[in-house]
This record gives sequence, structure tokens and C-alpha cells, in this order.
Amino acid sequence: MHSSTARQRLSNLTRHISTSNVKRETICVLGAGSFGSAITRVLAQAPATEKVNLLCNRSSVADEINNLRTNRQYIKDDNVFPSKVTAHSSLINSITGANIIVVVVPSNYLPPLLDEIKESSHLLAKNAIVISLVKSLHYDSNSNKLTTICDEISKKLNLPTVCLMGPNIYTEMIRDEFAEATIGYCPIDISAAIRAQQVFTTDTFRVSICNDRLGVELCGGLKNVISLASGFCEGLHQGSNTKAAVIRLGLKEMATFSKHLGVSSKTFYEESCGIGDLLLTCTVGRGRQLAKSFVETYNASGPCQTIQDSTLRWENLENDTLNGMKLPDWHNAKVVHDYMLNVSNTHGPGVLDVDSFPLFSAIYNISYLGAPPSTILDALKIAVAGSDTENEIASVKVEGAFRNVDLTGKRALVTGAGQGIGRAIAEHLSQCGAHVVGIDINMETLKDLQNTLPDGTCDVIKINLLNTKEIETKITNYMQTNSTTPISLLVNCAGVAKFQPFFETTPEAFDLQVGVNVKALFYLTQLITKSMVDSKMNGSVVHISSQSSTLPLADHLIYSSSKATVDHMARIQAFELGPFGIRVNTVRPTVVLTKLALEQWDEKALEVMKNQIPLRKLATTKDVALAVSWLLSDEASMVTGSSLAVDGGRSMGGYGL
Ligand SMILES: NC(=O)c1ccc[n+]([C@@H]2O[C@H](COP(=O)([O-])OP(=O)(O)OC[C@H]3O[C@@H](n4cnc5c(N)ncnc54)[C@H](O)[C@@H]3O)[C@@H](O)[C@H]2O)c1
Repeated sequence: MHSSTARQRLSNLTRHISTSNVKRETICVLGAGSFGSAITRVLAQAPATEKVNLLCNRSSVADEINNLRTNRQYIKDDNVFPSKVTAHSSLINSITGANIIVVVVPSNYLPPLLDEIKESSHLLAKNAIVISLVKSLHYDSNSNKLTTICDEISKKLNLPTVCLMGPNIYTEMIRDEFAEATIGYCPIDISAAIRAQQVFTTDTFRVSICNDRLGVELCGGLKNVISLASGFCEGLHQGSNTKAAVIRLGLKEMATFSKHLGVSSKTFYEESCGIGDLLLTCTVGRGRQLAKSFVETYNASGPCQTIQDSTLRWENLENDTLNGMKLPDWHNAKVVHDYMLNVSNTHGPGVLDVDSFPLFSAIYNISYLGAPPSTILDALKIAVAGSDTENEIASVKVEGAFRNVDLTGKRALVTGAGQGIGRAIAEHLSQCGAHVVGIDINMETLKDLQNTLPDGTCDVIKINLLNTKEIETKITNYMQTNSTTPISLLVNCAGVAKFQPFFETTPEAFDLQVGVNVKALFYLTQLITKSMVDSKMNGSVVHISSQSSTLPLADHLIYSSSKATVDHMARIQAFELGPFGIRVNTVRPTVVLTKLALEQWDEKALEVMKNQIPLRKLATTKDVALAVSWLLSDEASMVTGSSLAVDGGRSMGGYGL
């Protein structure tokens, strides 16, 4: 059943692409090296492609490609380039009229190229998009931000930008052997991703699309680092058993590192850009080959004394063994190390400790600090021992607490976190792995929350939510100083209730309830989801509403109306934020015995309420927290604009006879 559906999807995709109603694309490929040439061949074979303009850095190469259909400097085969391909040595000629730009140049050539494209962007077709195939990471120590090539391209050109990463050896692609790859995209760029998928679909090349651009790019950048470990092991004459260990433990470090940046480990374990590309790179990649030569040079000449000497050694090896080709692998090893070091210096131990990544650390130490290559074997032993302890801790955590979903690596802001339902939610999200940011007007209860949670996993900010200026100043300041892991989860829980008969309801009670329950929630959500959109992050927001949002309960006029507003705001927010990959839902609890409820409900009223609930019990803070964490998690990735009743059936209405 499953396979016939997949087969059907495949034949639909192929039929869709080969029918004439698909608008055929004019593609410009930047970079005519070995990989650029192989990719050009794939693109030129796709039914969705009209023509391919290939930019070469020399006119002699362009002439050879146009006249002989070969590129002998990089590829020995004949007839590499189908007739749809025209080579150019001028950027302007190659981008004119293009609606897809494919970037396949070494990252150091990119900045001037992007400047030139920017200047001539009026020559591009109106619906132009960019596909980056560059596997390079960058670290800006001033802002402490790790950026990817797609970040740089989309910032510079302001065009929808997706990436393509996968296990793709150019020699096999030239021979038209089967290969797959992954296209990573931000939710807002879904149509660009589909167009990219179409031009990369041929008889022998297939791509899947993945709504996690950062994850896909990190797969590409980080597997290059791990491939150095594989090469070091080869240089030490280790065999396949060692290599298998490098791949397993390396994948784990890649996924753990990326979780810190809010990336799901699913991308690493399930996509071809993850496990697929790592396997390939560790067995036949060029970085592995270079690292093997690095060990041989170490054995012959001894360790380098400084980072500069080490850099020179890598560069010389590129010249000697790769004909001067530039690899991102050893640069990325430094980027990863520098980033981890800065994060743990800024946030203290527990957050991205270099020691928790024995492979990444050993790779850096060998590559830059003159450590003996055998350090990598010690690191493997440490990594195996470390993974035991980690699993043990994880299982204790799950049993002792109630960890229903995995929110590791996410930063979650919870309002009203000092006590009651908000406190339970904050504790539960922490147990699920999130870094919690607790907001409340009461610093004492916030401090207590912080002391309860593991060191370094909870920040607290005292804010009076009635004061929008205070919200803006303190939250903006927090987001600026903690930009490495932006807030991607938000729970608006703080709330106040003043139950009064209609004629006795005061303007003060109105302002208080609408101020905290509605206005602050509106403003905070606007502030935080705006930053999610700016950083192109998926996010999830949950507002704590109430059963009374749909039930007309006596004395609840302002409170009920404020919660009804919250439900409706969530629906409109879900509508407007959905295209950015941000979900918004509400949870509607029945009575929970917190301070708020005990101040508003007497014993008799509680008994009446309990008897009106089909399950004949009140809700607990844990009931609410479990619903919230599920809605926040990827498990609910298709749920938005909904309102989940945690009320034992009370708001269904209806009465027993
Ligand atoms: N307890 C219930 O029966 C019940 C039922 C349904 C919905 N709710 C909703 O759940 C949410 C939490 O309620 P609770 O029962 O935990 O209440 P609670 O009174 O125990 O906790 C509310 C928290 O919000 C904080 N807060 C209040 N005003 C604030 C302000 N101006 N600035 C910053 N923080 C402020 C308080 O300091 C407190 O820590 C509320 O939105 C409430 O409407 C509660």
C-alpha cells in the first residue's frame, strides 16, 4: 500500500514535469569546475530545463565546452555537455534572462560574485531564485553568529534561496549513474523548492525537498569536518571498523551540535544530505584524502607549532594533492570549534561544551594545534563512553519526569512562569530539553524556578506585562544578547481573573484583565514572531485560554471575553504566520486548582463545576503542560489555528438526563 502510493507520487511527478504546461527554466550555473560541470549535465537533462548558461572563469574553457562539449582540465570524459548548455566567460551574458541561478563556486570566490550579480540583478528574470550547492560555514566572532552560504546569498540578493546537498560524486554523475540529493528550504520559499526539485529531476537524478534549510546546510558543512576524522584514521592505517565508528559517533555529534541551533535531528538521520552524504564523504571524499596526507606529512615533518603554520600545511597539501582545489572541510573544523568555544564562554558550562564533542575537538586539535593524529583514536573511545552515560541520563530523565516530546536545542519563552500553570509548563519544557526563558512580575518565584532547573538551562526576566515599553526593552535586549539560539517557542500563560457580576464590573478590572490577558499577549507575540520571521525560523506559539472562552459563565464577562479574544487572535495569527512556518494554537483548560482559581472559586462552586464535567474531575497543571508541549513540538507540525480543550469534556456542552 505504502509503496504503491510512493510509486504513484513518483510517476505523477515525472508526468507533471514532462508535460508541456510546466514553465521551462533558463538556468545559469556559476562555476565550471568538476562538480559544476557534472551538475550542469544533470540540469541540461531535466525536462523542466529550457537551457543552461554555464559561467567559466576563462574564455578558453568556455570555447572548449561550446566547441568540443568537454572540460578536460577537470573531466576526462567526452560529450559531457548536452546541446542545451552554452558556456560563457562573462557574468552578464550568463545571468541575462535567467530565472534560476545555481551557485557552485568555492566560498571564497562568492562575495565579489554576489556583488556583481547584485549590480546586474535587473538582467535576471522576475521570478529568479537561487540554488546554492556550496558547503561552507562561517563564524562571525563579533556577533557570535554561525552563518551559512544561503544566509549570505539571500541577504545580499534578496531572492528566494534554497540549497542542494547530497552524496554526489561528480565522476559517477557524468556517467549518468543513479544519485539522490536533498533540497533544503525555508517554509516561505516552498514554491522555489518545488521549482528547484523540477530542474533536478531526470531519469537518474532524484531530489527530495526538506523544510529545514539550515539543517540541510549544516549536514553539508559538518560532514566535511567528520570526514577529516575518517582521513586521519586512514593515515593511521585503521580499517573499516574504525571508519564505521567515526561515522556513527560523528553523525551523533553533528546532530547534537545542530540541535543547539534549533535543527531537528530527523534531517541528519533520514535525509540523503545527512547520513547519505556522511557515508560517502567518509569513504571516498576529498577531505578524507587530504586528511590522510596531513597525517603522512605529520609523520615526516612533525607537528606544526602555530595555527598559521597548520593553515599553511593544509594549503600546501591542497596544491600538491588536489591541483590547488580549495576544500571547505578544514576551514569548517575551525568554524565549529570557534563557535562552540565562544558559546560556552558566553553562556557558561553546559551549553555546547567543547568537551561534549570529543570528535570535533580532536579534529580541531590535530588540524590546528599540532596534536598527534592518534588523538582521534582516543576521542573515539571517549565518545563511546560518553554516549552510554548520556543514554542513561536521558532514560532516568524520561522516567522521573514526564518527557513526552523532544525539545532539545530549542529556546522557549513562558510568561507567568513564576507559579501555577506557567511554572508547571516551564518545568516540563525544561524536562523535554528546552532552554527556558521565564517571565513574571514576581522575581522571587522566578528565582525559585531557576534554582529548581539544571544550571544554565533557564533564564528569568522580571517584567510587568501591563507595561508594553518594559516588554519591548527587556525582550529586545534579551533576544540581542542571546541571538545564537533564537526563541522559537512561546507560551503566553500569564493571566489574571477578577470575577464580578456585570453591573459591578469596574473599569480597573476591565483594564487589568484585558491588559494582561489580551494586550500583553498580543504585543509579546508580535515581537517574538517578528524575530522568528527575520531569522527565517520555524516556530510554535501557544496561548493559554480557558474553557470560559466558549462558555457563557456568570460573573466572567471580562475574563471570558478576554479569553474568547485570545482564541480568535490565535486563529488570525495562525493564518498570517503560517506561510512563515510559525504555528499558533490555544489550550483551554477547565478549572485548575492554582492561586488564581482558589481566589475566584469557592468550594461549592467547584463541586458544581466538577459535576458538570463529563470526566468528573478538575484539570491539573500537568494536564495543561502536556498539551502545551505537544502543540509546541514537531509532533504537532500540521496543527495550527486550533484550540485544544483540556477540560474533561466540559465545553462540549450538553447535559445528562
Ligand atoms: N487556574 C485555572 O483554573 C485556569 C483555568 C483556565 C485557564 N487559566 C489560565 O491559565 C493561566 C495561568 O493561570 P494560573 O491559574 O496559573 O494563575 P496564577 O495566578 O497561579 O499564575 C499567574 C502568573 O502570572 C503572573 N502575572 C500576573 N500578572 C502579571 C503581569 N502583569 N506581569 C507579569 N506576570 C504576571 C503572576 O505573577 C503569576 O505568576 C492564565 O492565563 C489563566 O487565565 C487558568
